[in-house]
Amino acid sequence: MTGRATLAGGLALLTGLTLAGCSTEGSPELKVVGAFMPQPVSDIAAAFLVVENAGSATDRLTAVTSPISDHVTIHETKGRAMRMVASFEVPAQGELDLERGGNHIMFDELKRQPKKGQKISVQLHFEKSGPITVELPVEETTYNPAKQ
Ligand code: CU
Repeated sequence: MTGRATLAGGLALLTGLTLAGCSTEGSPELKVVGAFMPQPVSDIAAAFLVVENAGSATDRLTAVTSPISDHVTIHETKGRAMRMVASFEVPAQGELDLERGGNHIMFDELKRQPKKGQKISVQLHFEKSGPITVELPVEETTYNPAKQ
């Protein structure tokens, strides 16, 4: 009996060590939720979404591409001004919020005019994770999920 207990204890210890070894390597686990584009009123559009990171490593959103524009950039909003940034952090066990009135994705020189009900394909590029393709539903111009 004592022998078995020792063996079981030994296995539990080994398993614990293996798990600890995995978690120290760490990797981001990204998921995109709540994505949308308000129907634009000119040849410039914005898009909003949340990137959730369930992983144990921080990642960064570094670029966004889309067939609808060759000029897609990521912008931060400070007060009433916005400016382009090189990347946004997606913290480990946290999220990156791109929301109305705040940070956003910006599309300049739209190749066609997105209309409510359509979907716009975008690809999000990250420092560590592979690219994620998102189909952005086009909502009405004033749509704001935070105020629903
Ligand atoms: Cu902007």
